Amino acid sequence: MKKIFKITASAVGVIIVLIAGLVAFFAFRGVPSYEVEIPEKIKTIKVEVTPERVARGEKIALVVCNGCHIDNNSRLTGKNIVDLPAAFGKAYSLNITQDNEDGIGKWTDGELINFLKTGIKPNGKFSPIMPKFPRMADEDIQSVVAYLHSDRYPVQATKGKQPAQEPSLLLKILSNTVMKPIPVVTEPIHVPDSTDLVAFGKYVANDMIACYACHSKDFAKQDPLNPELSLGFYGGGNPMPDLNGKIVPSSNLTFDNETGIAGKYNEAQFIDAVKFCKKPDGSILRYPMGPHVTLTDYEVKAIYAYLKTIPKIKNKVN
Ligand code: HEC
Ligand code: HEC
Repeated sequence: MKKIFKITASAVGVIIVLIAGLVAFFAFRGVPSYEVEIPEKIKTIKVEVTPERVARGEKIALVVCNGCHIDNNSRLTGKNIVDLPAAFGKAYSLNITQDNEDGIGKWTDGELINFLKTGIKPNGKFSPIMPKFPRMADEDIQSVVAYLHSDRYPVQATKGKQPAQEPSLLLKILSNTVMKPIPVVTEPIHVPDSTDLVAFGKYVANDMIACYACHSKDFAKQDPLNPELSLGFYGGGNPMPDLNGKIVPSSNLTFDNETGIAGKYNEAQFIDAVKFCKKPDGSILRYPMGPHVTLTDYEVKAIYAYLKTIPKIKNKVN
């Protein structure tokens, strides 16, 4: 008996030392870098800046990018992401204006598209906090690039650098284990035909805007390549700090009768909520839920139709 106890105790001791060693290694290594292997097909993309693309890219950027990257002067020079969950440390979105030194003026189109898909920068650095868009349609991602290259006010070359990122130990551990770069998809991705309301809504919700990222259970347990496999897909409850650090959990958007949006939001009310943050009782949805004013009613209708088709999750969010 005594001997077994001794062996168990020393085995536990060895495991503790190994784990401590691994944590120390991750703390020292920090957020890892990767070899930059941009597939030829993406590397050689040269985005033609057309008025149609700029308009489409602007529409997407206004709901997806600018909220995180815009400064007090309405330029995309980046800022402290003050509503980052404290457990992740401190993060700063960076200057993505056309400035050659402080911004991304020198990035090629292929480098930009590869980063948006995978999270790997041209210098190999991986970005765990910046969302990835691995399944955004080719034409849409090129439109975002066209917008970044356009003469629109927010993207014009502007000086200004952000401080270095300050990832917490937890974020370092996560980005060495579960938060990895996304493998790059090279086969063509198209926007589904908008007459197929459910398929179109699925694209807008999951691949273009990533509503599921906030509206599933946990940022660290998501699968941007297969959003449906994310933990608690659209079941809400993801604890999100508002601008004062107060926690606002995301809502359950599945059609569960008791805890989801079935019976709570009809289609018209859903459109008001998503576009203008207006609740059926007239009150306003809290930050970080933002207004999505550049979406058309049809796009929001399609999201509603898609959410009706996904598995219901019983999860009461207060
Ligand atoms: C949730 C906030 C958030 C959103 C949304 C977001 N970003 Fe970022 N972005 C960041 C953060 C934080 C970084 C810094 C990443 C790092 O260095 O680890 C970053 C970095 C970048 C960089 C790298 C800049 C550099 O010099 O290294 C580019 C390019 C970029 N973002 C473009 C975009 C585009 C385009 C969109 C929309 C499709 C977008 N971002 C949406 C937070 C965000
Ligand atoms: C940055 C994170 C974030 C993103 C992105 C986001 N939401 Fe939200 N959403 C929230 C939070 C947090 C709440 C809860 C707000 C509250 O309780 O006041 C919310 C609330 C809602 C509600 C109200 C539900 C209810 O039960 O009252 C709807 C509807 C909604 N979001 C739809 C969407 C759709 C559709 C998208 C994508 C187009 C989206 N959200 C993107 C964070 C987000």
